[in-house]
This record gives sequence, structure tokens and C-alpha cells, in this order.
Amino acid sequence: MNTFIPRFLLLTLSLASLSSLVFSAETTPDYFFIIFQWPKSKCESKEGCCLPKKGKPVLNDFIISEFKGVYAQEGSVPENCTTTTKFQPSKIADLVPNLGRYWPSLTCPRRDSKKLWKEEWVRYGSCAESVLDQHDYFAAALRAQKQINLLKLLGDAGIIPNGKYYPGEAINEAVRKAGLGDVAVTCREDENGLNTILDQVFLCATREGNKYTCPGAFWICDSRNGNKVKFLKP
Ligand SMILES: *[C@@H]1O[C@H](CO)[C@@H](O)[C@H](O)[C@H]1NC(C)=O
Repeated sequence: MNTFIPRFLLLTLSLASLSSLVFSAETTPDYFFIIFQWPKSKCESKEGCCLPKKGKPVLNDFIISEFKGVYAQEGSVPENCTTTTKFQPSKIADLVPNLGRYWPSLTCPRRDSKKLWKEEWVRYGSCAESVLDQHDYFAAALRAQKQINLLKLLGDAGIIPNGKYYPGEAINEAVRKAGLGDVAVTCREDENGLNTILDQVFLCATREGNKYTCPGAFWICDSRNGNKVKFLKP
């Protein structure tokens, strides 16, 4: 036992330094993208949505779609990094109720959200391992969701999910006011084939899940509708 632990640690350490060599010398994400999804937009799209096998997703608030580290020096958002750590649901057991609410799988056919969390960790969490372990990666995403409180932030600016159209500039102004920088908004097609249904909102957070001013520029889906986007009722 005495000799086993040090040898095990040594092995872990050397594997960890190897995997960081594979990615790059500078392996600390500068900040994170948090991508929010308006659930109704996904549900009204062609592929539709299915409730997961377990958990109670919020369908009247923004849910998390992705949380991924940005490496500003390299100008990249790396994916699928080399890691020796496997996804272990037991490590995030305490977060499952909130993950089920705010980061559910809405993919069809319905599945267990744990499948989604595993995919997200393998794809993005693995590339942030230098600063966040598995538990803290998911905890940071949940914290960012809560800190930013996008629905309230927009609501305070009079932008509410009531099926009406809102100017993209008004959304950006609300986000700027909250100290979050400039926003990027993606959309889905409406019944006229215009890409104007507010779908995803890209914001930024620190590794602790606090607000971070996005350095990017304002961007919104389809200018054919004068930058106006429809915010569907939940
Ligand atoms: C990372 O893995 C996912 C799932 O296998 C895949 O869809 C994606 O294209 C991969 N990304 C890159 C940059 O290779």
C-alpha cells in the first residue's frame, strides 16, 4: 500500500503532462462560451424535441446547450482533447437535479441526459481539464446559467417570450448593460422560410461560472427581417 500510492500518483502525473503536450504548451482556457438554447425553438423545429427519460427540464427558461473553453492566444475552441479521465456519473451526482433542469437532453428519440453530459464532457470538458475537473466543469456551467439569468436580463429590457418580434440591437443592448459584452444570436426558420426564430444565444463566462465580457462582435441571424427575431412563447 505504501509503495502503491506514490507509484500511482507518479503515473497519473506523467500521463497528465503527456496529454497537455499533445494539445499545446499553453493549456489554460482564457474564458468559456456558454451557449443558451430557447427550448421551444428546438421543439418547434423539424427535428423536434423529446423529454429525457429522467429529470424535469425547465421549458420556460433558457437551458444550457454548450459550455466550452476558449483559448484566446491560439484563437481556438478545442474539442475532443486527449485525456485519461473517463466520464463518471458518480462525480456529478450532487449536480444531477439541476443539470436535469438546466442542461437536459431534448434529442429524439428520448434518452437519458447522462448520455448528453458524457458527450459534452468528452467533447469540451476534456479540453478544460487543466482548470476544471469533471465536477467543477458542470458546476461552472450551472453557475454561469444562474449568474447570467438570461431570461430575467432580457425581461428587464422588455424582451419577453410572447411570440413577438424584437430588434437584435435591443437584445444586444440588454446584454451589454449587464456587462456581458456583445452577443451572438442564432435562429431557426419561421413559417415564411426566414431565419428569424430566436434559437441560441452565445455569451461568455469565467471558469468559475461568473459573468465575463465577451470580446466578440454583435452578430444576429438573418438581416432580411431587419435584424428582428421572434421570441416564441414557452
Ligand atoms: C469531436 O467528437 C464529436 C463526437 O464524436 C464529433 O461530432 C466532432 O466532430 C469532433 N470534433 C472534432 C473537432 O473533431
